[in-house]
Amino acid sequence: MKTQQELKSVVAQAAVDSIRPLLTQSSVIGIGTGSTVNFFIEHLQQTSLPFKGTVSSSISSTELLERAGLPVIETKCVEDVDVYVDGADEVDPNFALIKGGGGALTQEKIVASMATKFVCIVDNSKLVNILGSFPLPIEVIPSALGIVSKTLRIFGGVPSVRPGHTENGNLIIDVSGLTIENPDALERTLNDVPGVVTVGLFALQRPQLVLVAGQHGTIDVLTRDN
Ligand code: 5RP
Repeated sequence: MKTQQELKSVVAQAAVDSIRPLLTQSSVIGIGTGSTVNFFIEHLQQTSLPFKGTVSSSISSTELLERAGLPVIETKCVEDVDVYVDGADEVDPNFALIKGGGGALTQEKIVASMATKFVCIVDNSKLVNILGSFPLPIEVIPSALGIVSKTLRIFGGVPSVRPGHTENGNLIIDVSGLTIENPDALERTLNDVPGVVTVGLFALQRPQLVLVAGQHGTIDVLTRDN
């Protein structure tokens, strides 16, 4: 049996292999954030794939990309991303995700929204039947902390403020106690709460492809129609 770190590395290599046919010399690759993506950056550096540059979802990924000598283009200078590769905290059977454990949910959602194809890479510990065991991260404008927390309690959630600030100078509320049976509806509803910047639910913007590393390092390729 492989360790979780080994599985993250295996699935990251599978992502490098699976995006190869999508790329040309002018392609832009969107890069997520987290330990699985860190392996993806490592494998991307070691494999010669054709692409023009990357767009990063966090300072930490940007630093790793730059250290690896991979070109990083500022997100604001790009309109289209060919493929976005990112991990997740939970994946449901319909590919709705909880993301944001690493705090980069806003930039991640921006880059995911720019991408023609979203490839999610996880080890099988991330697969769940219903989202919500992992506390749902929500980025909020600091002044809205009180009212957003109160609203989340009305939805049955237990809000907890994460120490520190996001790269955007905002706060993150981690919401536990949710059983998310309708992720699309919850994402839409929470998006409408004043002061909410980004909900860590990726249901309206699901991946088209989920690569899952099983305990022994085998890869399941899960696809869905658009
Ligand atoms: C960061 C994220 C990550 O994709 C998520 O937390 C998974 O991280 P890891 O690959 O380290 O398990 O959403 O904001």
